[in-house]
Amino acid sequence: MTDFTQPAGATPLDPDTLEGLLPDLTTQVELNEFEERNIYEAVRWVFGRPAHRRDILTDKALRDLHRRMFDRTWQWAGTYRVRETNIGIAPFQIPTAVRNLCLDVREQIAHDAYPPIELTARFHHSLVSIHLFPNGNGRHARLAADCLCLERGWPVLSWGAESLTAAGAARREYIAALREADAHDFGRLIRFVRK
Ligand SMILES: Nc1ncnc2c1ncn2[C@@H]1O[C@H](COP(=O)(O)OP(=O)(O)O)[C@@H](O)[C@H]1O
Ligand SMILES: [Mg+2]
Repeated sequence: MTDFTQPAGATPLDPDTLEGLLPDLTTQVELNEFEERNIYEAVRWVFGRPAHRRDILTDKALRDLHRRMFDRTWQWAGTYRVRETNIGIAPFQIPTAVRNLCLDVREQIAHDAYPPIELTARFHHSLVSIHLFPNGNGRHARLAADCLCLERGWPVLSWGAESLTAAGAARREYIAALREADAHDFGRLIRFVRK
């Protein structure tokens, strides 16, 4: 029996998605710890390489990052979602939306359309709004935003300086800020990511 309970603002895991669980785990605590160790390897990889020679703004790089974060946890790591989720666009639109987002962000950078923090916060919000993967979208989109900052030589964001995976004040503020961003108001998210 599995007992995976998710914090508010998380994507519930449907049976097909759970099928792809590689390790033999039964509780959410075990899953969180297992995922955290897996993600740690990806974080070390991200921060341990010459960032300016990398490019997160391609659909392949975004999928590769998710794969590195979850390859030992989920069989579907790094593959786009094929199911509807409560947040996110229709699955068939994902590949095009991701390619368009990458092109848009390149244009924004080329034209200094926004200050780096706002540009990165918008990039993050677009990723979670598309909701590329069956799960892990929040964590992936935060690390993807960090990749962008490292590559461009911008300061890395603090993300409220507290764990956002567990339910708590920081996560509540983060989700509230994303909701305002859904309504095209990015002020609260920008204040949050630099806190
Ligand atoms: N209203 C919202 N608008 C945009 N993104 C949201 C909203 N609510 C939640 N999210 C994002 O969706 C994520 C949850 O998706 P999920 O795939 O479960 O990611 P993770 O497993 O990393 O938590 C949250 O961490 C947040 O980044
Ligand atoms: Mg989740």
